[in-house]
Amino acid sequence: MIDVESVAVDGQQQHGDSRFPYVLACRGEGASMKDAVDWVAAQRDRLLDLANQHGAVLLRGFPVENAEDFDTIIQALALENFPYEKSLSNAVRINRTPRVFSANEAPPEVNIFFHHEMAQTPLFPRWILFSCEVAPTEGGATPLCRSDVLLEKLAQRCPEFVSACERLGLRYTNVMPEADDAKSGMGRSWRSTLGVDSKAAAENRLRELNYSWKWLDDGCLSATTPPLPAVASASENRRVFFNQLIAAFCGWKDDRNDPSKAIRHGDGTPLDADAVKVAVELSDQLAFDLQWQVGDVALIDNTITMHARRPFVGKRKVVASLAEMQTQMFEPVT
Ligand SMILES: [Fe+2]
Repeated sequence: MIDVESVAVDGQQQHGDSRFPYVLACRGEGASMKDAVDWVAAQRDRLLDLANQHGAVLLRGFPVENAEDFDTIIQALALENFPYEKSLSNAVRINRTPRVFSANEAPPEVNIFFHHEMAQTPLFPRWILFSCEVAPTEGGATPLCRSDVLLEKLAQRCPEFVSACERLGLRYTNVMPEADDAKSGMGRSWRSTLGVDSKAAAENRLRELNYSWKWLDDGCLSATTPPLPAVASASENRRVFFNQLIAAFCGWKDDRNDPSKAIRHGDGTPLDADAVKVAVELSDQLAFDLQWQVGDVALIDNTITMHARRPFVGKRKVVASLAEMQTQMFEPVT
């Protein structure tokens, strides 16, 4: 028997009639994994609707102890897996189960800024799931930010910038090493990122994806995406700031990458740095810090909500899973 109810948590936000995040707590001891899995399977459509409406659903107090349990919960949601090896993302990750991998392996002191998962590539997951195996003792929250609310506020403060984003889209440039570099939040090698083992195969894949590229002397690959959307429609009347603008502008920094070169509008013009600062400021104001407890499972609608990672001290084990691959193409707003 399982007893689940909607509860309030500190810092929870109210946007219109939605609560951010929506939190469902499993009450009492004694619920088994089988109870939890049966409940999730029975509630599947409701959970996805809640995640879409509110931006994210947090399941707290469920008997989820490790990556295997988390994998079983995800299977109960019956969503198509998005295997990380198929992604064009720049983070190094390690698979724990077929569906579950470590969240970004970047060192603890690295701040990962707000982004929609893989919005800097033509392929992105509709859903992201996180679960906490080891709660951090200091720092390490996963901040969440409602992208529709952010866009509305940004359009009031910087209408010309939002209009430029809609008209021109964004292009991202990323310098990838030849071999994985786990010291960096964006250290995934070009071999892993593109799923290839030679420069010729890399070029074929880049051509297919419409990227432009340059080989560097040290074997690194500098790749630039085609124009991608900066603003998208999550549904009718719900526009979102769907991009990696904040993360690229503030955080794409390592031995190979310089944030000032990481992002441009689709026509190659630089972004208005003052407007980007306003976007960063708004995202900070709108952040809900998910302070992890062991066993937490978060279901995030990646088309509605951005996520980030605070630096931390000591141990922290948060695992992730992606579902339902979608594609995006830039279509200028005329
Ligand atoms: Fe992410």
